[in-house]
Amino acid sequence: MKEVKISIFGFGTVGRALAEIVAENSEVYGIKLKVVSITDRSGTLWGDFDLLEAKEVKEATGKISNIGDYEVYYLKPEEIIEEIRPDIFVDVSSWDDAARVYEFALKEGVSVVTSNKPPIAESYDKLLKASQEGNAGLFFEATVMAGTPIIGLLRENLLGEKIEEIKAVVNASTTFILTRMEQGKTFEEAFNEAKSLGVLEEDPSKDIDGIDAFYKAKILHWVSYGAPPEFEERVGIREVKDARNVRLVAQVSEGRISVKPIKLPENSPLLVEGVQNAAIIKTDNLGEVVLKGPGGGGRVTASGVFTDIIKAALRFPKAR
Ligand code: NDP
Ligand code: HSE
Repeated sequence: MKEVKISIFGFGTVGRALAEIVAENSEVYGIKLKVVSITDRSGTLWGDFDLLEAKEVKEATGKISNIGDYEVYYLKPEEIIEEIRPDIFVDVSSWDDAARVYEFALKEGVSVVTSNKPPIAESYDKLLKASQEGNAGLFFEATVMAGTPIIGLLRENLLGEKIEEIKAVVNASTTFILTRMEQGKTFEEAFNEAKSLGVLEEDPSKDIDGIDAFYKAKILHWVSYGAPPEFEERVGIREVKDARNVRLVAQVSEGRISVKPIKLPENSPLLVEGVQNAAIIKTDNLGEVVLKGPGGGGRVTASGVFTDIIKAALRFPKAR
């Protein structure tokens, strides 16, 4: 059985859920998945370790470097690629500047799977070029709608369609806060409750100010049109007073992205609750395609990452 070596970069909510899923499904489609390293801010665990033991140590102590019986290294991200030489670099970190490591990895022939949005939103063209240069895969399903497969839909299933417009609710934290405000809570009370959900960004102002949804809208624009938008608009939810039927809506059409709170009609498919996300994709031949599903949380996001790991391992081709 072919063994595929994986380096996990970031070991928070999503990274630890991914460790569980890989431990439960280490042999799939004739491939043996082997996690050879895990990195957090305290260091890199590298060697023949037990995945679930690593998860337990991180949960109990907050640091992967506290694992007793194995070697922990202090490597720059590029050194993970150069020295460990994984087949797949999996970024489930909150590090905004990871694009330079992806570029390095891809050019070295190492595939990249990521749930981290800014590197894809800001550098997609450069990364796609690097992936072609290095003949390596670049997969990022979990960056938008977590494990609910909008990226696969746009990058694969709708390749022959002209995407006329996408309207989507892609940020779960703001949906949660707005629905709690509808029920009579203040913004501050609702925000404090959201902290226990496990979906807020490490810096929650990225959710509240629409930055997270903006990155997602930009990624949707890249995979729909292969170019960055010319017009960009972003408004968060801090100024919302009457939250009834209001959701933070991302709108994407050729050359244009906008993220702002919008009061939706009662029967709108975008009027989701909890951690649900929804998107209406309008195309030339199909009309409206509606996609709805969970858009955040550890296992839900790790599900998208895990499917991408399988695609990278099986070397799925990519046109855009
Ligand atoms: P967490 O904040 O729980 O975890 C982030 C992890 O990244 C931590 O382990 C942190 O290390 C590590 N990290 C950050 N910067 C560095 C660095 N420079 N070097 C090494 N490690 C670093 O985030 P989540 O697990 O919730 O999310 C992970 C990524 O997935 C984020 O980019 C997020 O936007 C994205 N995402 C999350 C979803 C969710 O529902 N949670 C859904 C979709 C995408 P340490 O533990 O030492 O601090
Ligand atoms: N912070 C994000 C959200 C996590 O609330 O939707 C999922 O990308």
